[in-house]
Amino acid sequence: MDNARLNEEKRIAGYHAAGMVEEGGIVGLGTGSTVLFAMERLGARIAEGLSVAGIPTSYQAALRAREYGIPLASLDEHPKIDIAIDGADQVDPRFNLIKGRGAAHLREKIVADAADQLVIVVDRTKMADRLDAPVPIEVLPFACSPVLRRLTGMGGRPVLREAVKKDGPVITDNGNLVIDCSFGAIGDAAALEAAISAIPGVVGCGLFTAFGKKMKVVIGDGRECRVLSL
Ligand code: 5RP
Repeated sequence: MDNARLNEEKRIAGYHAAGMVEEGGIVGLGTGSTVLFAMERLGARIAEGLSVAGIPTSYQAALRAREYGIPLASLDEHPKIDIAIDGADQVDPRFNLIKGRGAAHLREKIVADAADQLVIVVDRTKMADRLDAPVPIEVLPFACSPVLRRLTGMGGRPVLREAVKKDGPVITDNGNLVIDCSFGAIGDAAALEAAISAIPGVVGCGLFTAFGKKMKVVIGDGRECRVLSL
């Protein structure tokens, strides 16, 4: 799909999700290009009189929320979130997700867990019969080498993520490193998430397998969007 059509599908999905936010809502603000469309539309609704507060999952989300006039709050003030809007890199038919292309998956998982409702906004290319993308894994720098060894022992092919406009590795908003680990086609995503998360030094795994019941997936599809739930 060309970039213009892809962006249009992202915009349609993002705008639809922003329409699901209710007056007075506490809104989790995910990270990534699709969520930015949701924030743009949410900002417009705020300008029209809607009152909400956003909990950002990254510096990107916080900076763009300010640009769009979305008031920000923290999990300390609002440990319970009404609706979280976030993107994904892959979505399977059971609503298992791979997230973390933007290295924000640790905070995104915390916000998803705190939310009553999780709205995942994607274009069509993100839907997959089976998860098979590399899994982003946030690790404490101190633990990087042992975690790489453990992941290899589990049959993975781990690669430390390199920065693009900086020499050396990506450093997350939490001061950690990111390993992208390929496992090929993933059979039992929940078991893999549990196994990765149990490695000492792993602080965040980009597999999200526990949120299907409270999730809606909003898919930009051509000029329209489809909203799926389990
Ligand atoms: C960031 C993420 C993003 O939500 C995910 O990568 C999707 O991003 P985009 O909407 O730009 O494709 O997990 O860590």
